[in-house]
Amino acid sequence: MSPLPHVAVLYSRVRVEEKWIFRALEQRGIPYTRVHDGRVALHALEPAPWRHFDVVLARNLSYARGLTMARAFEAWGIPVVNPAAVAQVCGDKWATTMALTRAGVPQPRAAVAFTPEAALEAMEDIGFPVVLKPVIGSWGRLVAKLNDRDAAEALLEHKRTLGAFHHQIFYIQEYVPKPGRDIRVFVIGDDPVTAIYRYADHWVTNTARGARGEMCPITPELGELALQAARAVGGGVLAIDILEHPQRGYLVNEVNHTMEFHTTVPLTGVDIPGLLVDYALRVARRAAPVPPNPWAMAPDTPTRG
Ligand SMILES: Nc1ncnc2c1ncn2[C@@H]1O[C@H](COP(=O)(O)OP(=O)(O)O)[C@@H](O)[C@H]1O
Ligand SMILES: [Mg+2]
Repeated sequence: MSPLPHVAVLYSRVRVEEKWIFRALEQRGIPYTRVHDGRVALHALEPAPWRHFDVVLARNLSYARGLTMARAFEAWGIPVVNPAAVAQVCGDKWATTMALTRAGVPQPRAAVAFTPEAALEAMEDIGFPVVLKPVIGSWGRLVAKLNDRDAAEALLEHKRTLGAFHHQIFYIQEYVPKPGRDIRVFVIGDDPVTAIYRYADHWVTNTARGARGEMCPITPELGELALQAARAVGGGVLAIDILEHPQRGYLVNEVNHTMEFHTTVPLTGVDIPGLLVDYALRVARRAAPVPPNPWAMAPDTPTRG
């Protein structure tokens, strides 16, 4: 048996991020296996084909596939980054909201309802404009800003008639009048390693929707909030999305558990794939002799990268 831990990378499509992760593994001389989630079947009682894995990096595009596979590897005693329990919370916006609530992390007002009538009432309570989102979703898809009751009635009616079952849970948030941007803080273990602003003319500021990234200094307040949010969902390798409220300050909007970083790495110069791999090696069941974590040295450094 090799003295080095063996890493498995679960993926759906090799994006820039996965290429960089493979390269970081190769640079460190770490043996690894690429596992395409569309080409495997996992047999509950037959872990033998995967026994040589010491840690699994889940990079699946699909929330359901990543979570399903993580449950298998964990049951077989192999740690997964991020753990199934963390993925489960982060992939579900209401689960995230309630984890943040439990931990007392500041966030926008949010409600769920299951009928258009109850949803309209919740929207009136919160006050228009509101934001309606699918509980499970990403890249800004199907997030809708509703400026008044007429628009809300129409959209809810469409969802009720045309939507699949998971669109029958209405997740409603107050609209945060943020300054043309949001903030994404990348947390790896106990360290907020870098952050970016995402600027857009549109109120939806996902880079997948064309938002422009810019370096964001991590103040102690921002770093501490990001860590609180990361811990609230169970910790790991996470991207914390934060909205700036003109009166109430930072509010945590959501936490992402399979983060993209192709915009952030060139912008900040922070080697996120390298740090991600080093973190995975630290939590592997046979830990690798990895260099000490450079971020652990300076918890209050205002700007990283
Ligand atoms: N309550 C809100 N107030 C203001 N802007 C919001 C709000 N919710 C989402 N947004 C904007 O829409 C983007 C996408 O919403 P988000 O909840 O992150 O969904 P997704 O999981 O699809 O990224 C956010 O990055 C932010 O720019
Ligand atoms: Mg988001």
